[in-house]
Amino acid sequence: MNVPKIDTQIPGPRSRRLLEEAKKVLVTTTRLEYMAIAKMENDLIWDVDGNVFIDFAASIAVANVGHRNPKVIDAVKKQLERYIHTGPHDWLDEVQIEYAKKLIKVVPGNFTKKVFFGNSGTESVEAALKVARWNTKRPLILAFYGAFHGRTYGSLALTASKPQHRRYLLPYGGMAIHAPYSYCYRCPFKLDPSTCGIWCADFIKEWIFEKVAPPEDIAAIILEPIQGEGGYIVPHPEFIRKIHRLAKEYEILLIVDEVQTGFARSGKMFAIEHYGVEQDIMSTAKAIAGGFPLGATIIRSDLDFRYEGAHSSTFGGNAISLVAANAVLDYILENKLWERADKLGNEAIKFLTELKDETEILGDVRGKGLFIGLEFVRDKDTKEFGVRERDRIARLCYENGLVVLPCGKSSIRIAPPLTITDENFRKGLEILADSIRKVDKERK
Ligand SMILES: Cc1ncc(COP(=O)(O)O)c(C=O)c1O
Repeated sequence: MNVPKIDTQIPGPRSRRLLEEAKKVLVTTTRLEYMAIAKMENDLIWDVDGNVFIDFAASIAVANVGHRNPKVIDAVKKQLERYIHTGPHDWLDEVQIEYAKKLIKVVPGNFTKKVFFGNSGTESVEAALKVARWNTKRPLILAFYGAFHGRTYGSLALTASKPQHRRYLLPYGGMAIHAPYSYCYRCPFKLDPSTCGIWCADFIKEWIFEKVAPPEDIAAIILEPIQGEGGYIVPHPEFIRKIHRLAKEYEILLIVDEVQTGFARSGKMFAIEHYGVEQDIMSTAKAIAGGFPLGATIIRSDLDFRYEGAHSSTFGGNAISLVAANAVLDYILENKLWERADKLGNEAIKFLTELKDETEILGDVRGKGLFIGLEFVRDKDTKEFGVRERDRIARLCYENGLVVLPCGKSSIRIAPPLTITDENFRKGLEILADSIRKVDKERK
């Protein structure tokens, strides 16, 4: 099939009608107004108007093994013939044990581990917070500016990527303290990364621990090994290593949020492996079960709750999601998908870095594996955020058959299924590049 194939305006007439109806019956959330989806397969998306798009978003880094991966479908069909829901935290079944053992093997950390199953990213973060506070009996959690950890009240207190996530909603006076993240393209301290000595990490000890939050009160530091929603921001590797050392020095637990970076996307099974440090607690979700709702929090075994009832869930770890997750992990391992992410990611970064030099509006290209961020600016010297430019580029991509997803203030993320074909990946990059060139010319 010749893809992409766009035969209507975007959104097409049927999509437009559904988008209007959605406004009447669905609560306002984060919906993109380009199309309504009818079918998905591996790296392609059909809308209800018959248009076919190449997917560079993977339903927000979920479809790492492709949409409707046949192995996942087979596993789910088989499980549907056995049972769907046992109430897994109350009535044990085998699939929980089988998958937990498999997951533990691939999660980094030279220590014994246990798993808690929930339903989503935010729930896997909530479980991480509970484990950290329950064990340390300390009240505070240190997170970073630009972080996204979820939208329920515990995780929302730590999320700090956009004001609209928090406005009117925050439990002020809660457990969260925030520190600057290592965002070298826009250093919060306006320093040069080649000479700064990673001051953003040292700042925590000198200004946060000594002025606002005694480290003895901090249960955990939570960080994304590459920030996602905040703008696909790759930190300086030494930043992560310094944070790890700081956590060790003060016996603060290190929670690594791999909800978006996990499961081979960054060129490693988990992105924390890029830095050579070990977390105490890891939160995962998104790509874990090929589109079925599941979150897993993996903890050091000695951090387990020592009585029943401190935490549980009705649906977390339901059998359908777990057999899907089992098939996803097998598929990633059998096909070494982290290698594919690394290879395609390197090609894309080379291509896009050349495009950066050619245009005025593409300010930064960064990423690891197929977790790539493009940040747009109005002017490379002032780095004024190119919000309108970014939005226009996204629209052009859709009009030409490429699904992309914004992040940060003026960035676009590239996060296709890791199983995307070489041909569709290159076509997608060309559509993206043409859209960027067009918007670059328009403003000259
Ligand atoms: C790093 C990170 N943590 C947590 C979450 C929350 O996940 P969910 O939307 O499944 O609750 C997200 C979602 O984008 C995320 O990117």
